[in-house]
Amino acid sequence: MYVRPAAAAAAAFLGFTLTLLGGTASSAATGNGPGSAPSPADRAALGGPVVYAHRGASAYAPENTLDAIDMAMRLGFEWVENDVQRTKDGELVVIHDDTLSRTTDVEEVFPDRAPWRVKDFTAAEIARLDAGSWFDEQFAGAGVPTLREYMERVGRNQQRLLLEIKKPELYPGIEQQTLNLLGELGWLDERHVTRRLVVQSFSAASVRIVHGLRPDLVTAFLGTPTVADLPKYAEFTDRINPWHTTISAEWVAAVHGLLGAHGRTMEVDTWIVDDAATARKVADMGVDGIITNAPDVVRAAVNGF
Ligand code: G3P
Ligand code: CA
Repeated sequence: MYVRPAAAAAAAFLGFTLTLLGGTASSAATGNGPGSAPSPADRAALGGPVVYAHRGASAYAPENTLDAIDMAMRLGFEWVENDVQRTKDGELVVIHDDTLSRTTDVEEVFPDRAPWRVKDFTAAEIARLDAGSWFDEQFAGAGVPTLREYMERVGRNQQRLLLEIKKPELYPGIEQQTLNLLGELGWLDERHVTRRLVVQSFSAASVRIVHGLRPDLVTAFLGTPTVADLPKYAEFTDRINPWHTTISAEWVAAVHGLLGAHGRTMEVDTWIVDDAATARKVADMGVDGIITNAPDVVRAAVNGF
C-alpha cells in the first residue's frame, strides 16, 4: 500500500519552496544537475512519483492538442508528454500515429490520399484538419499543433515537457531539427535543460544522437532492456521508461543501481498507468515517475506531484 500522508504535506511545502526559488518539484530539479534523480531523502520528503500528463491530459481532451496541455495545466500538472513527427514539407508537428486517420477528419477532407501518412501531407494541409471532434464535439476545431505552436503554449502555461521523437526512422535528421527549433525558442538554455525538458524515444539510436548533439540534455529510452543490457544504455541516457506491465521492483532497483550519462542515479518513468491500483503498484516498485492519460487519478492514488 502506497500511503505517505506526512510526505504529501512535505511535498506541498517543498514544491512551494522550489517554486519560490525558480525551481520545480520535479525529478529533474530535485537532484543536482542534468539526469539526476532525487536522493532517497528527497523522494521520501516529496511523496509519490512525478506525474506526467501523457499526450496532455488525454483522458479529458484530445491527445496531443493544445487543449490537452491546457487541460493538464488546469488540473495542476506541470509535466506533459507529446509525440513529434514531420510533415512532407519539413514542419515538425505533434501527433502520435504516423497516419492522420485515427485522430483527425483527414479521410473526409482528403478522401483520395490513403493511407494518410503524416509524412505525405504538407503542414498547410494538416492545418486544415480537425483533431478534436473524434474525441468529443466540444473540441471541434482543435488542430494538430506544429511543434512551434506547442512549445509556445507549453511555455505560456509554464509547463515542462517530456518530448518523444516518434518513429525517427521515418524522418532522417529529426533529432537535429528538433533541437534546432528548441534552441531557437529558448528551450536549450541552462534553466530549461536542467528543469523543464526531457527527450525520449523508443529508438536507442535516436536517443544516442540527441545525447551526442546535446550532451547536457536529459534523455530517456523507452523500453525494458534486460538487466544485463542496462549498463549499455547508461552510457548515453539518464532514464529507462518502460511499459508498466513489463517491470518488477527488482528491475527498477537494477536501473537505480546504475549511474546514467550524467553520472547520476538512473531513473524510471513508467507508462501508461490510468488507474489507482496500478499506480500504487508501480509506485511501490519504486518508480520515479508515472506517465498517465489521467494524471488526477494517479496523483490522488500515490501522492504524486
Ligand atoms: O511516454 C511514454 C509513451 O508515450 C510511450 O508510448 O505509444 O503512447 O508514445 P506511446
Ligand atoms: Ca509518446
